[in-house]
This record gives sequence, C-alpha cells and structure tokens, in this order.
Amino acid sequence: MKTILITGASTGIGKATALYFADKGWNVIATMRNLVPDSALAGKTNITCLQLDVTDNVSIESAVQKAISKFGKIDVLFNNAGYALAGAFEAVTESQIRKQFETNVFGVMNVTRAILPNFRSNHAGIILNTTSSGGIITFPLYSAYNSSKWAIEGFMESLQFELRQFGIVIKNIEPAGVKSEFVGNIEFISNPVYDNYSNSAQQGTLDGYKNAPTADVVAKVAYKAATDGKKKLRYAGTPQAGFIFFIRWLLPLKWFTSIIANQIEK
Ligand SMILES: NC(=O)c1ccc[n+]([C@@H]2O[C@H](COP(=O)([O-])OP(=O)(O)OC[C@H]3O[C@@H](n4cnc5c(N)ncnc54)[C@H](OP(=O)(O)O)[C@@H]3O)[C@@H](O)[C@H]2O)c1
Repeated sequence: MKTILITGASTGIGKATALYFADKGWNVIATMRNLVPDSALAGKTNITCLQLDVTDNVSIESAVQKAISKFGKIDVLFNNAGYALAGAFEAVTESQIRKQFETNVFGVMNVTRAILPNFRSNHAGIILNTTSSGGIITFPLYSAYNSSKWAIEGFMESLQFELRQFGIVIKNIEPAGVKSEFVGNIEFISNPVYDNYSNSAQQGTLDGYKNAPTADVVAKVAYKAATDGKKKLRYAGTPQAGFIFFIRWLLPLKWFTSIIANQIEK
C-alpha cells in the first residue's frame, strides 16, 4: 500500500486530496498546523492526522519521522499548505511579505528538505506541489502571492534536475480559482492611496470565484499526477487553469495582460 504525506490538510484542496487518496486505498498522513481533524478525516482508518506547521522545522521533522516509523517509507509528498496576501505593494509591509514567503516558499523548501533523505534511500519518491495558475501568470494586487508561487515554480523546475538520479520526480499542480477556505483566508491589506483601484480590482478577482469548481477537482488531478508514471512537471489543476494557460501560450504577453486587466479592473 502506498503512502502520501499532505500539508495543509485541515480544509480545502489538502483535505479533499486526503479523502480521495484514502478512498483509493492509500495510507494518508494528513498534516495540519492545528491538530483538530474533522469527522470526515477522523472517520477513515487509513488516514493518520499529524501536527505540522510548515513554518516550524521542529514540527516538520517530528511529523516526517513519525510517518516514516509508522509506514516505513513515504511515496508521495504533497506540498499544499498556503495562503494569499493581497493588496497594493505599497500597502503591504516587509514583514507581511516575509510571512507570505515563510509559508508559501520556505515552508515548501523545509518540508521538501526533511523528506529527501527518505526518498533518496528508497531511490523513489514524488513531490507534488500546489502552486497556482498565479505561479505561471499574474493578477492585479497579488504581487506578493504571485511572486511566492513563481518562486516555487522556479525552485521545483531547477530541483528536478539533481533529483532525477535518485528516481525522484517533481510535479506542480496549478489550479485557478477553487471553492475552499482560501478566499476567506486572504489577507487583504488596504491603503487609502490605492483604495479606489484595489476595491474594484479585488472585487473583479472575487467575481471569478462564482463558478469555481470544488477542491475535489484538484484532488483528482493530484491523484493522476501521483499515479500516471509520467515525468511531467506541470498539471493544470482545474479546467479553467488549462484554458488560461492555452490563451497565455497563444498570445503575446501584452495582449494577454490586457485581457487580465479587462476582466479584473472593472
Ligand atoms: N483556492 C484557490 O482558489 C487556489 C487557487 C490556486 C492555488 N491555491 C493553493 O492551494 C493550496 C491550498 O489552498 P486551499 O484552496 O485548499 O485553501 P484553504 O482551504 O485555505 O487551505 C489552506 C491550507 O493551508 C494550511 N496552512 C496555512 N498556513 C499553514 C502553515 N503555516 N502550516 C501548515 N498549514 C498551513 C491551512 O491550515 P489552517 O486550517 O490551519 O489555516 C489549510 O489547511 C494553497 O497553497 C493555495 O495557495 C488555491
């Protein structure tokens, strides 16, 4: 039986993926920074919930070691925990941006570093990452979030070279808008100088969530990426993301950014 360790499994994409893999017969280590698993996770005998805060190396090491002692090895790591800081660049402080990078970038690096010795000794392992469509393209007011997700795209694209010799494969899952706790958890920072622009642009972004799919859609993509045997780096996490990437590939950047501006800056 294969084993997956998931970060940020308390809600949204992480939780949906934990349930999906468990239903497919996998051992699932559903990690969360506050160990209060809901009944859906607690009700599955093949889901083990562990505390792991991606900004705390002690909790990362402890969760990874507990998982390895229980299951012998981990087959798939799913770096999924994350949140968005939004607002005009001049509105957000350096410490708010550092906090964004602590979770979305250094958190991913730290969990990856903790698991690599196990993957190397097994001569196998898959690292899945929830980046975002916002790791390939950008949106108004999301310069901090976009740069954190672009950082992971670049980090993982480079890391894959040195890990190939150990049979370790990297795959990035890139969703566009998904219904989860994500929107409610956006840390939106105002600044009077930008408020006219920010309020309407943020509303334009939120309008895009009206027809967003649920997190199960991304869970299925994560499962496909974990099991398709391909050495493919990027997966559109939702159909809308696939459509956006196609348009981005088709058009010059200048035209593409005009479309984004027209959609969002209403
Ligand atoms: N939803 C979207 O539209 C969307 C689109 C593209 C990409 N994404 C990405 O998808 C991933 C999952 O987001 P989601 O949509 O499922 O949102 P979500 O429901 O808010 O889930 C985010 C998860 O990350 C966890 N988390 C945040 N900071 C953490 C930390 N320091 N240590 C451990 N866990 C932490 C949260 O834990 P708590 O419950 O403790 O807060 C929660 O479990 C994120 O990386 C996000 O950037 C989301």
